[in-house]
Amino acid sequence: MLETTFSIIKPDAVSRNLTGQIISRFEAQGLKVVASKMLQLTQAQAEGFYAEHKGRDFYEPLVAYMISGPIVVQVLAGENAIALNRQIMGATNPEKADMGTIRKDFALNMRENSVHGSDSPASAAREISYFFSQTELCLR
Ligand code: CMP
Repeated sequence: MLETTFSIIKPDAVSRNLTGQIISRFEAQGLKVVASKMLQLTQAQAEGFYAEHKGRDFYEPLVAYMISGPIVVQVLAGENAIALNRQIMGATNPEKADMGTIRKDFALNMRENSVHGSDSPASAAREISYFFSQTELCLR
């Protein structure tokens, strides 16, 4: 099924100049960038994006980290894009991520884990619309 998913290249990866290498991995494995922008999140934007984690012990440090520097937000399209993106990223904890995944190769730790990707069609829809209007998606 042709799907779209939402991706973030996080501050730890952008600051280490890994943006191009990460996008190349998505492209090499069949995902197409159909929208992309670099931005600096505000505290309110980061809190809203991660609202489902509010109250967890990692929430406040996660928000502080996500506003520590610029990020790249993207919409990726392809066959089974949501699952494929998660496979390319690897497990949240880089110590548990499979060989050859982005997080295994680049993530610093469980928080500074280089990338985010939607975990379901409902999350993808919410997350895409959090950062992009429909007219910003180049789907044709
Ligand atoms: P992400 O896919 O963006 O979704 C939530 C983020 O919270 C996750 O990636 C990590 O950056 C962070 N995170 C999740 N669990 C933990 C944890 N146990 N400790 C620290 N950070 C975490």
